[in-house]
Amino acid sequence: MRVFVTRSLPGEALNRLKERGLEVEVHPGPLLPREELLRKVEGVVGLIPTVEDRIDAPVMDRAKDLKVIACYSVGVDHVDLEAAKARGIRVTHTPGVLTEATADFTLALLLAVARRVVEGVDYAKAGLWKAWHPELLLGLDLEGLTLGLIGMGRIGQAVAQRALAFGMRVVYHARTPKPLPYPFLPLEDLLQEADIVSLHTPLTPETHRLLNRKRLFAMKRGAILLNTARGPLVDTEALVEALKGHLFGAGLDVTDPEPLPPGHPLYALPNAVITPHLGSAGRRTRERMAEVAVENLLAVLEGREPKNPVV
Ligand code: DGY
Repeated sequence: MRVFVTRSLPGEALNRLKERGLEVEVHPGPLLPREELLRKVEGVVGLIPTVEDRIDAPVMDRAKDLKVIACYSVGVDHVDLEAAKARGIRVTHTPGVLTEATADFTLALLLAVARRVVEGVDYAKAGLWKAWHPELLLGLDLEGLTLGLIGMGRIGQAVAQRALAFGMRVVYHARTPKPLPYPFLPLEDLLQEADIVSLHTPLTPETHRLLNRKRLFAMKRGAILLNTARGPLVDTEALVEALKGHLFGAGLDVTDPEPLPPGHPLYALPNAVITPHLGSAGRRTRERMAEVAVENLLAVLEGREPKNPVV
């Protein structure tokens, strides 16, 4: 029985598959061309894809023996869940283990944007640092600012806890209000009130371009946008415009398109801090994600209920 893994994964988890007698093929990366992915999945019973691999009906149809797609991610927008359901293929993901790492990274982006860390680094490296000046690269003081979280699952709540430690006020919007000690606001109210808007909602047809042009410009003048969730939640073209005067800045760990091609207008903006989808990139976190994906995959193949089913 064969399992295909679309990237090499940190840690030892994949050895467990071999110990159970499975034949494992690992594509080291980068992204497999579509044709090659279609060829590689032929005859596999298990697939471990990453967020960049589009696992849709044609892929599933080529993988006639496929029983489980064990995503190496919490987000599953790269998998056609309906197609999987229709074919009786189980889909699992890795919630929980990456919560703290992603929340940490959200704060890293917030600090980088608010305190103009990247601009400061570039300034120093360019040899422009000749003297200390009281007005050099002034940023935003976080204490007392309002953080508006859109999406209040595990990661949103972990970001909220960290924001409190910085003396910020937290408000949130989610599909339904939750029993939490933060005010729930309708989306349009949150956009008007928040000094910082941070996205923590899954990408679905309903949330695609949730922050469209109208909503981006409905954000407070001088606010910050953070996106560690999924790029297509935001209208990129409108964001470029909003960053040229309306917003203070943006911290983007995810983009649309992703990867963001060299020369993209976002790169030219000093107030956009862009990182290559690193939210969960703590070594221990990425190892645990591999363990969870492997455990889910084995559970399905061994006839047990997986711990983290999506379909
Ligand atoms: C996820 O898990 O969905 C992240 O985007 C990658 O870790």
